[in-house]
Amino acid sequence: MDSVKTKIMIVGFGVVGQGFFDLFHSKKESLGLNNVEITEIVDKKYGYIERPPIDLTEKINGKTDYPLIDPAKAIKNSDASIVCEFTWVNYKDAEPAFTHMKTALENGKHVITTNKGPVALRMDELKTISKKTGNDVLFKGTVMAGTPSFNIVKLIPGAEVLRIRGILNGTTNFILEQMSKGSDFGTALKEAQKLGYAEADPTNDVEGFDSAAKVAILSNYFGWKHRMSDVQREGIKNVSREEAAHGTKLLATISKTEASVAPLQLEDTDLLRHVNGVMNALEIETDSLGPIYTMGPGAGRKETAQAALTDLMEILNKN
Ligand SMILES: NC(=O)c1ccc[n+]([C@@H]2O[C@H](COP(=O)([O-])OP(=O)(O)OC[C@H]3O[C@@H](n4cnc5c(N)ncnc54)[C@H](OP(=O)(O)O)[C@@H]3O)[C@@H](O)[C@H]2O)c1
Repeated sequence: MDSVKTKIMIVGFGVVGQGFFDLFHSKKESLGLNNVEITEIVDKKYGYIERPPIDLTEKINGKTDYPLIDPAKAIKNSDASIVCEFTWVNYKDAEPAFTHMKTALENGKHVITTNKGPVALRMDELKTISKKTGNDVLFKGTVMAGTPSFNIVKLIPGAEVLRIRGILNGTTNFILEQMSKGSDFGTALKEAQKLGYAEADPTNDVEGFDSAAKVAILSNYFGWKHRMSDVQREGIKNVSREEAAHGTKLLATISKTEASVAPLQLEDTDLLRHVNGVMNALEIETDSLGPIYTMGPGAGRKETAQAALTDLMEILNKN
């Protein structure tokens, strides 16, 4: 263990934390990460786990006997150089994730997160600390999980991004598709819950908060600075079956002058109209290429873990 060069700590060991743990171990060899290890995990429910065995997720089965300790304290005392923050999302003040990320940065660690709260609400504060300490905050998983999204522009240097349109919430897209086939809203929502696409409390998805957070994240990434509270937001509750059948989608639109989430009827010639089920898609309008498109899963255990793995490789390749 002492020959390990890069140590990773996971904070929050739910769906994404466990997905990342397993994906990391399954890809470790092919990615040549022999000197990289997940050495610590801290979670509210599972406790503090040091030097976890690689079959941990098979063993824990909902419960462990590990000691419960304060995650911020664990981060401070950790010798890991990368902290992966995967706790629950909070759109009021972004806590406790913000404190976890701040503590990590202040203690000389890079941060990877899939948590939209701190990135949508408090990215400026995180950027200031990150600039001061020289440590990175990467957040690919906050938009379209592991599917390339904003990070795709790194492949087109010099291209100016003029406007973005996107379907950024799979749950509402699934519900609208069910409605387009004749379901009413309530039945479509229940189906989404049964399939694990919607949470017991679907407010964040249905009312457009999740998409609005992603609009704020994209806006910040492209330097347009719309805050989450600036995003004009309307959910899908008032969409009728007829409107859904005529191509109404919950569309996110972002440019220097616009930040909105609203149900909009799209033309049949619009590629975004044909994004179905829980898929997400982004149209990025650029000055040199015109529109480019990316489409793929926007959530899921392995799919979101892929985003954190992508961020991990970026940090390792840079340092
Ligand atoms: N699942 C996805 O497909 C997906 C996709 C994109 C982004 N995300 C984001 O990724 C993050 C993790 O999602 P998830 O699906 O893995 O959620 P999850 O299954 O609910 O897991 C979160 C874990 O963090 C723990 N936790 C909560 N508060 C904590 C604290 N103060 N300190 C330490 N641990 C704490 C939770 O314990 P308790 O259960 O005891 O509260 C739980 O084990 C969320 O911010 C989510 O919005 C998820």
